[in-house]
Amino acid sequence: MAHYAVRESPPLRGEIPIGTSKNAVLPIMCGALLTREDVRIENPPELTDVSTLASLLAACGCRVAREKGAIVITASAFRNPQDEEDVRKMRASVLVLGPLLARLGEARIPLPGGCAIGQRPIDQHLKGMSALGAKVSFDHGGVTLSGRLRGAVIYLDMPSVGATENLLMAATLASGSTRIENAAKEPEIVDLAAFLCSMGARISGAGTSTILIEGVQKLHGTSWTPIADRVEAGTMACACAITGGELLLRGARSEHLRSLLFKLSEAGVHIQDTPGGLMVFGRAKHPFEIRTMVYPGFPTDLQAPMMAVACKTPGTSVFLETIFENRFMHAAELTRLGAHIRVENRVAVVEGTPYLTGAAVRATDLRAGAALILAGLCAEGETLVDDECGHIDRGYCHIEEKLSAVGGLVRRLPASA
Ligand code: EPZ
Repeated sequence: MAHYAVRESPPLRGEIPIGTSKNAVLPIMCGALLTREDVRIENPPELTDVSTLASLLAACGCRVAREKGAIVITASAFRNPQDEEDVRKMRASVLVLGPLLARLGEARIPLPGGCAIGQRPIDQHLKGMSALGAKVSFDHGGVTLSGRLRGAVIYLDMPSVGATENLLMAATLASGSTRIENAAKEPEIVDLAAFLCSMGARISGAGTSTILIEGVQKLHGTSWTPIADRVEAGTMACACAITGGELLLRGARSEHLRSLLFKLSEAGVHIQDTPGGLMVFGRAKHPFEIRTMVYPGFPTDLQAPMMAVACKTPGTSVFLETIFENRFMHAAELTRLGAHIRVENRVAVVEGTPYLTGAAVRATDLRAGAALILAGLCAEGETLVDDECGHIDRGYCHIEEKLSAVGGLVRRLPASA
């Protein structure tokens, strides 16, 4: 839990190392439950979501060790999570469902509640699991799935990232073949499938809307380096677009950020692919329109950072949030800095203003918190971002150090300050 004191900063210049993707590491850590052997995950990001999941897996009886910059998970003997709190602490824990069911023939987790950005049901996960032969029952706020899994054809009503990941993992040990139709195509799913194949799974089509899985008897251990975090990279590209600097985002992969990079170039920011990563130059000069979509459309996780860019970009920018029903809470906080934003249901209209002034604001969710730090970089005076709930640490590793190293005036204050 922390607060961040941010001051108006000069154009950011230098190099920012991009960490390993949170949204790739979390499903991969759950995938380690599919084998009794060691699974070594290299360069895990230092994020609270990763440590929360590590403690949950340990609480299920897995051996979870940190060895020379890697996490090693060994699920030789494990059981269902006993403490509901462990699971409810983080929504991504729902991703243990598929592996637990595939390995133990029974899985029980508390139904994850909603969160700030939306109700976030898991009906697609459960629809797919029952298609694979699981019996699904609900009681005392939890869901229990049981049964031997057999291959099936599953059609997802919407290309849910989590449901695709959960079902992909469950199907690897089901008897027979499974086809997932209308699957999500995010890079994190392609990385998960490649990780599972390195364990002996037989998967084809990841990254397309139809994924085929041939069930196998068992999977073996592996060592894996997950992909770079495209959302962290995109957030830092937005920081550059706000201050008008020149940044090398070391390790960032442009092919995972095409929609953002096109949007930033429409706004007048220059992007260049280099062998070491992505070069971003210059401030956003023109307004833009963003409709968040499933991959390869514009990622919902970068909607808030791009709204921070829009606040000082001359002209009228428009945002349509099609993925989550309540993901504009940062708009009210940005307005406290002097931004001109009107929100109507899933549409936000931002009139760029030449002048923002620092104020005390509150991080309402993970990406909103990052957006407020970015906005503070171009607000006169000091902006105090209250992150009492620790949202930012869930998805950004030492954001204040990375921005300060390139000239950003960002200080992390202990929560009690
Ligand atoms: C993943 O969440 C990411 N989290 C989210 O990142 C990201 O915003 C989201 O995908 C969309 O890209 C991780 O990977 C850990 P979904 P997930 O299932 O899997 C509805 C961040 O900031 N839905 O694709 O939960 C759901 O309510 C986080 O890093 C159902 O209705 O996303 C939402 O409106 C935030 N029924 C939409 O689909 C279901 O069974 C997208 O959800 C599942 C989802």
